Amino acid sequence: MVKKIIPLAVEIYNSAEELNRSDAALLAKARAVTTQAYAPYSNFNVGAAALLTDGTIVTGTNQENASYPVGICAERVLLSAVASQFTGMGITTMAITYHNINGDSSTPISPCGICRQSLTEYEERTHQSIRLILSGMQGEVYIVEKAQQLLPLSFSAINMQ
Ligand code: THU
Repeated sequence: MVKKIIPLAVEIYNSAEELNRSDAALLAKARAVTTQAYAPYSNFNVGAAALLTDGTIVTGTNQENASYPVGICAERVLLSAVASQFTGMGITTMAITYHNINGDSSTPISPCGICRQSLTEYEERTHQSIRLILSGMQGEVYIVEKAQQLLPLSFSAINMQ
């Protein structure tokens, strides 16, 4: 038996003010679009912003539904928008943030399991890793180098061969 440790490196910043200009701008965009979320059931507004390989920024927000499972997370709304409007283009960085009904939040959000699976497949299909900037409206910011690192031992097309 061999025990394998799968490492996860997370950069932890005290606040957005410690980020470089490009990362800070992307996170600011994600924070700004939280107001566009449709989250009347959870009152949990999520905003995401993607920086594409050509420099374009695309945003997404969570879109809920009275039939709860129909709702879609901000990350997958964003991935679908990019895949549809900029087909084949890689995403270099995605910032994800949120706030509650009071408009505040201070601990970083992390994508749910379904979104991790979607992010990983998007990385594979575009051959481009996606850096994740995880945050709330204030406070600490986490940066993970590749979305795939959040889904170790993942299932993908390669497992179907
Ligand atoms: N949500 C996201 O949009 N992204 C996440 O990473 C976690 C959860 C949404 C789904 C639902 O609309 C609300 O937040 C509460 O779970």
